[in-house]
Amino acid sequence: MQDDVLLAVNNLTVRFDVSAPALKRLITRSPRRFVHAVEDVSFTVPRRSVFALVGESGCGKSTLARAVVGVERPTSGHVSLAGRRVSGFTTRAAERTWRSDVQMIFQDPQSSLNPRWRVGRSVAEPLRTHRMVAGRAEAVERVGALLEAVGLSSEDARRFPHQFSGGQRQRIAIARALSTRPALVVCDEPTSALDVSVQAQILNLMRRLQREFGLTYLLITHNFAVVAHMADHVGVMYLGRLVEQGPADVLLADPKHPYTRLLLDTVPDPARRGRAREPMKGEAPSPINPPVGCAFQQRCPLATARCAHERPVLRSAGRTAVACHAFEERRLPPWRTSIQPDLQSAEGSR
Ligand SMILES: Nc1ncnc2c1ncn2[C@@H]1O[C@H](COP(=O)(O)OP(=O)(O)OP(=O)(O)O)[C@@H](O)[C@H]1O
Ligand code: SF4
Ligand SMILES: [Mg+2]
Repeated sequence: MQDDVLLAVNNLTVRFDVSAPALKRLITRSPRRFVHAVEDVSFTVPRRSVFALVGESGCGKSTLARAVVGVERPTSGHVSLAGRRVSGFTTRAAERTWRSDVQMIFQDPQSSLNPRWRVGRSVAEPLRTHRMVAGRAEAVERVGALLEAVGLSSEDARRFPHQFSGGQRQRIAIARALSTRPALVVCDEPTSALDVSVQAQILNLMRRLQREFGLTYLLITHNFAVVAHMADHVGVMYLGRLVEQGPADVLLADPKHPYTRLLLDTVPDPARRGRAREPMKGEAPSPINPPVGCAFQQRCPLATARCAHERPVLRSAGRTAVACHAFEERRLPPWRTSIQPDLQSAEGSR
């Protein structure tokens, strides 16, 4: 393993059993059913970098995130942080160290803040759980420093979450996530629930904190403007699988997968007053019965008979990797232009 790899996701598969009860299945002679939420996903994230996962709703981003933080058990494959497998810890101490090394920021800051607790208590809780403070005075001091690091005041520790705006609550949630000095922060749509006017502020704060705290982010978003603003690397997911990945600047300038291209075509064009260029047509197939062959075949303008029976695998495409027969068969048309999605207009369109 490379020395600078912090997070390694190896052939990760997560399936959910959604079968009817056994007796009903017996009577109706129906088979067991599984949601194929994440299928054979592999990627690595270097230390102090940002890896963005993009894709439409339901493609498996949050399930993958939950597997990375150890909440979801992989059906197969595994996740490693700094070379240590996430799960199967032999001692409590090892598990505690790992838990303090990985934190999560959610779309809705309410989910990590207890409305009945003063902010100081919420921010201090991980410090106490991980026994990282000797006593009350040290906890108060650490909480004050964390609140100031996210642009709030140490006095805010005495207030309750409902006394803050949505953006300020997300700042508190970030302070809480950073309290254990994690190496990896998994951010699941951290700005999607916020007003347009504060989204860029929170993203800029996250970037500054990344530099100051030496953080690594796994950033989940369905917004390419956020990718362009934040990410070093990007992985594009479709129906549980990575279909394209690589350095963000290279991939955004010359996307090769037809799905990535269509996603980028939905990014609002500032020259057309923020309107999306083309809405994405059709819907992704059900993850309960993923199609044979390429999962994107029904929506793909380049699909052929081969796509209907042979699933494409990720192959090197220079500095990126892409899973598409059209690319392999050299029948991919050139990409129209280099685009840099505009953060304000893209956020504002939703
Ligand atoms: N606990 C569960 N049991 C059964 N199915 C689940 C469960 N959790 C997620 N799923 C299904 O797995 C698939 C992937 O869901 P996931 O929440 O990971 O998608 P997502 O990319 O995060 O979507 P969104 O952008 O809407 O948040 C979906 O079809 C979802 O319905
Ligand atoms: S493999 Fe075929 S259907 Fe899938 S994206 Fe490529 S051309 Fe389209
Ligand atoms: Mg999600």
